[in-house]
Amino acid sequence: ASQGLVDRYGRRAIDLRVSLTDRCNLRCSYCMPPEGLPWLPNSQVLTDDEVIRLIGIAVTRLGVEEIRFTGGEPLLRPGLSKIVAAAATLHPRPKLSLTTNGIGLDRLAAGLREAGLDRVNVSLDTLIPERFEQIAHRRRLPDVLAGLARSAEVGFAPVKINTVLLRDVNDDEAPALLRFALENGYELRFIEQMPLDAQHGWRRDNMITAEEILASLTAEFDLSPDPADRAGAPAETWLVNGGPVKVGVIGSVTRPFCGDCDRTRLTADGQVRNCLFATGETDLRDLLRGEAEDELIAQRWREAMWGKLPGHGIDNPAFLQPSRPMSAIGG
Ligand code: GTP
Ligand code: 5AD
Ligand code: SF4
Repeated sequence: ASQGLVDRYGRRAIDLRVSLTDRCNLRCSYCMPPEGLPWLPNSQVLTDDEVIRLIGIAVTRLGVEEIRFTGGEPLLRPGLSKIVAAAATLHPRPKLSLTTNGIGLDRLAAGLREAGLDRVNVSLDTLIPERFEQIAHRRRLPDVLAGLARSAEVGFAPVKINTVLLRDVNDDEAPALLRFALENGYELRFIEQMPLDAQHGWRRDNMITAEEILASLTAEFDLSPDPADRAGAPAETWLVNGGPVKVGVIGSVTRPFCGDCDRTRLTADGQVRNCLFATGETDLRDLLRGEAEDELIAQRWREAMWGKLPGHGIDNPAFLQPSRPMSAIGG
């Protein structure tokens, strides 16, 4: 008999986010400094077989129904499609998705689709090459656009785009990005910037808010409430010009959704995080490498989730940013 991942506030975690590497080939300013970060040594990173075993425990013993692979940049992980293929053989088969910056997706999308990946979310903050370089410190916009186009071709649906707007950098681009999404049938979501950058440069009063984003969109588009159930998803969505294409806003800071959170997280080095903003972690790697049985690992995971805090507390004056940056948590 399996008992799921529940916390003391009654939330049930059925959505697992697995970070497969902390490395990335971009340097987005809201995530990491231009020179990069000290990466995890390979000896600390879970092997493909270790990841596959933990995913198996999550699905068969802990009731996880959806698995999202994240990074750093998950396409940099050589074993990605092997891991996806293994996850797709589990019963009940979890829904499988990927959050990526899109670089390399042009080449990898078809194989990942074949391995069993259901969906991709691609980060795209601008359609202007100079701005892309200003934000990400690399000239890779054409690679991202090619990856997006290929994703739709191979049948990932819906293909979602994640956009972070930065004041005086790309905050005038919301309508242009939405036009681009409408033309191509992508589901665009704007994300409020969160205090998760390695440089600790986030300032609340510099953040583009959900309210500002909606104001800039409604000037040009008709947004009507989306009748579909939000069901634990971070994005609030609207139908654009009557539908079927939707646009979303992930207002983690000004419209927190912690009360409905259904997530559990695993870092590339085998730590469970019960919240994106958790200040503590629970190590599963030592258990794995110490030949612990599956049920012991499952039990440690349940205990980790039980202690999940009710909310992120960003607005609390005593808020402390987690010691790991976004790139080592996976968003
Ligand atoms: P869908 O299944 O497509 O809805 O995926 P998603 O939006 O949950 O995942 P994605 O990786 O695309 O994340 C989009 C944004 O939501 C990123 O900025 C994440 O950091 C943020 N996000 C994801 N999960 C959580 C969460 O539990 N809490 C908060 N505050 N933000 C989250
Ligand atoms: N705040 C909000 N979103 C962020 N992302 C990365 N860093 C931040 C941040 N500080 C986004 C990426 C990607 C997703 C995983 O999280 O753009 O789309
Ligand atoms: Fe869940 Fe933590 Fe995100 Fe809130 S901040 S939605 S509790 S992961």
